[in-house]
Amino acid sequence: MKKLLTTWLGILSVSGFAGLPTFTIDAGQPLGKVSPKLYGLMTEEINHSYDGGLYAELIQNRAFLDNAATPVHWSVVNDESSAASIALDSVNPFNDQLAISLRLTVAQADKKHGAGVANDGYWGIPVQPKTSYRASILARAEADFSGPVTVSLVSEDGRTVYATGNISKLTKAWKKFELILKTGKVAPTTQARLVITLDRPGTVWFGMVSLFPPTWNDQPNGFRKDLMQMLVDLNPKFLRFPGGNYVEGDTVETRFEWKKTIGPIEERHGHPCPWGYRSTDGLGLLEFLKWCEAMRAEPVLAVYAGYSLKGAHVNPGADLEPFVQEALEEIEYVMGDQHTKWGAQRVKDGHPAPFRLNYVEIGNEDWFDKSKSYDGRFAQFHDAIKAKYPQLKTISTIGDDQPKASWVKSRKPDMIDGHYYRSAEEFLRMSPGYAKGYDRNGPEIFVGEWAAYETSFPPWDKLSQKEPPTPNLTAAIGDSVFMAAMERNSDLIKMQCYAPLLVNVNPGGRQWRPNMVGYDALSAYGSPSYYAFQMFSRNVGDEILSTASVETSIQGSATRDSRTGDIFIKLVNPQANAVPLNIQINGVASLASKGSAITLAGNPDDSNSITQPKNVIPLATTTRGVKPDFTYTLPPHSIVVLKLKAR
Ligand code: AHR
Repeated sequence: MKKLLTTWLGILSVSGFAGLPTFTIDAGQPLGKVSPKLYGLMTEEINHSYDGGLYAELIQNRAFLDNAATPVHWSVVNDESSAASIALDSVNPFNDQLAISLRLTVAQADKKHGAGVANDGYWGIPVQPKTSYRASILARAEADFSGPVTVSLVSEDGRTVYATGNISKLTKAWKKFELILKTGKVAPTTQARLVITLDRPGTVWFGMVSLFPPTWNDQPNGFRKDLMQMLVDLNPKFLRFPGGNYVEGDTVETRFEWKKTIGPIEERHGHPCPWGYRSTDGLGLLEFLKWCEAMRAEPVLAVYAGYSLKGAHVNPGADLEPFVQEALEEIEYVMGDQHTKWGAQRVKDGHPAPFRLNYVEIGNEDWFDKSKSYDGRFAQFHDAIKAKYPQLKTISTIGDDQPKASWVKSRKPDMIDGHYYRSAEEFLRMSPGYAKGYDRNGPEIFVGEWAAYETSFPPWDKLSQKEPPTPNLTAAIGDSVFMAAMERNSDLIKMQCYAPLLVNVNPGGRQWRPNMVGYDALSAYGSPSYYAFQMFSRNVGDEILSTASVETSIQGSATRDSRTGDIFIKLVNPQANAVPLNIQINGVASLASKGSAITLAGNPDDSNSITQPKNVIPLATTTRGVKPDFTYTLPPHSIVVLKLKAR
């Protein structure tokens, strides 16, 4: 964030400036408590969020399971003096989970003319200077070939070898080989491949080929560092996972079956994700939990609840019982101690300490279930969870965005989850009145998915594919008025998270827009929505102050930190002109004359991208002349957070 000592914004320290639009704040009597978990993140496998995204694996189709007909993303490497062929092979696989291997047959090769196979990664393999890449390869060979096999990071045109190493002593039996590929002083690029070659004729089978760059905290099977840093910087208090549609799957069989996502990666078969590609399950249940740990956020665990996207549902009663047990065991894996069956499994998987868990979400968007079985399914899960874990709070997926008549009735959920994908205009219209008439004694509210879009069509429309993957400033303004509304009502709106979080911006990489954070193999950037969220989540007190906008379209919210006296004022100017705003803070004796401001502003169409990652970013400035009644000029199309100190 840029620090500027002075700003063009120009504070007018004029008291009682009659006729100006006014934003009043009552600091005398707080309205209620800000939920300490208000700001969090939501995630699922969509847009290559994990494979080709946060999960740092660089080899696409590492276990040859992505396509039963052909080894997609793998190609033959040879020259005019060498010859090789590759094929999928189901004979003598590594294990039942990796039931296919890749057979490489080199018919002709020598030391100068190697032949083999290459992987093109997730839209290229990123190469950074002076970096160690960890390769691990499951391989076996025909009796007359024991190696060496050369493993290299090579430019796409084959002319530059960035790093290289060998494996040898291959046998007829499967073995796991590990090696480090270390680059020198090279220019960063995404235009590289992993190339595996032989220097003489032979046949080799590969069961899995994996390559990791350095990961966040050096965690094996870990996360991409730059992306994790961006998520940590959002200061999230929770992570809702694994969906979204991903928890449901298209069918019961392709749901997120958590037990198949734990243990060594060689024992994870992966599964088709509902967004049109296959998930390796490399980022499985334990990795989700470690992700929470990395961000110091708590898990909000969504369990499969017997409804899948293509319409199948499991009847409540005996049919549903195995799925209820599956969820109870999942909860035990998360929070059970070493004396429980699944807690012990987690210990065996390398995480002795139980994870903190408070919320379990039962399904996802179950109002889609035309059989109307959700009430019964919810009740069965809710009762079983409460019987074993009375301290856990259950979340119903029919939330405040749905007609009240459709809400779960047979039980009182602790919390209900509403999803708000709305145009920026719609958010501007609805936010002033959002949650105003809600029953404060009803269930707590989770806004488990929301985002503003700037287009005339919604995210799921095919036309979205023609738009940039991440939103512009107009959308961030829509986001911000809705976030202000949620903050004003955060005595009731206990948690909220934008969705989707992540997108691989390469052609074919995504299924949805807008998304908060974009990336390719090498770089990542935050959209204006990312920065707006960060401004909100990092500047919030624990007390809600009452606010009113008088004669103005400016929307906002105010909170106070009861320990420090800091007042955080969030203001959103959707207009094309600068607005001198009279800010009146009642109920404070005085304010420090110097405060700080963070401003996100620009042209409404401005956005960020891989090539222009910092086009729209927040500016931090010092504000002077602050008093209980002062004027602050908001730039056109702006989101401003003021931090003032009450004395
Ligand atoms: O965020 C994208 C999708 O929108 C989620 O998977 C689903 O819950 C919602 O419909």
